[in-house]
Amino acid sequence: MSEMNLVVFLARAGVGSRRTCDELVGEGRVAVAGEVVTFPRHKVGADEVVTVDGEVVEAKELRYVLVNKPRGVASTRSDPHADRVIVELVPNGRTLFPVGRLDVDTTGLIILTNDGVLANRLMHPRYGVSKTYVARVRGKVSRSALDALREGVQLEDGVTSPAEVRLEKQSNKTALVEVVLREGRKRQVRRMFDAVGTPVEELHRRRFGPIGDKGLAIGAFRDLSGDEIEALRRASEAVVRALDDEVEGEPLTLAGEAAPASDSES
Ligand code: URA
Repeated sequence: MSEMNLVVFLARAGVGSRRTCDELVGEGRVAVAGEVVTFPRHKVGADEVVTVDGEVVEAKELRYVLVNKPRGVASTRSDPHADRVIVELVPNGRTLFPVGRLDVDTTGLIILTNDGVLANRLMHPRYGVSKTYVARVRGKVSRSALDALREGVQLEDGVTSPAEVRLEKQSNKTALVEVVLREGRKRQVRRMFDAVGTPVEELHRRRFGPIGDKGLAIGAFRDLSGDEIEALRRASEAVVRALDDEVEGEPLTLAGEAAPASDSES
């Protein structure tokens, strides 16, 4: 590794967003070659050891790949029952982990990464980032069904948390409904629609937190941009703040996610 800006080094080590890394440096918690450094753009030399709060951190080549999963592909790293697994869709994908799951029959966005810290935060079952789905369902969806989906429906593993639900199109036989969830329970969208009597026929995830699928065909993949990675890091830090607030009994919000640094969709 050649010389690298200290904040870039810390972000590549998975320490946090550039903003958080800037703050850590400013607070005097970062040392380079044994000396505390408070200048965020300090150049880190190839052989210099960097510590945060006394712990050594290493910048590695972190990869973040966005995949638009086709039907029939399992979103795990290996599955003896599946024809194909998602890591096979990406060159050298076997070194990466899927952030969360989609059913084999569901299409849509899934991130593959080797940044374990970020992945774990984004996948938190209660406060994880928002996930936006579009469901094509059988039958007409009544206003009361939409309200029930919004407020919470009883599933066998408990009542669902409030969701954003929007009817996009409706005909006599079928409807398209957008659902935004923050929870991540197994087959949650399908089970929610089953509970209100309009089963899902097709399900697609069109957004994952601040990242949208615009321009990415089903089956295609691309590296996330620097701005998208930064937006995900901020969203993951909002998850950490929500957990801290929970400990202190404060109300929970994931405000950091609402203001992505930049997004391919507008
Ligand atoms: N909800 C589902 O029912 N399936 C998915 O794949 C994701 C969310």
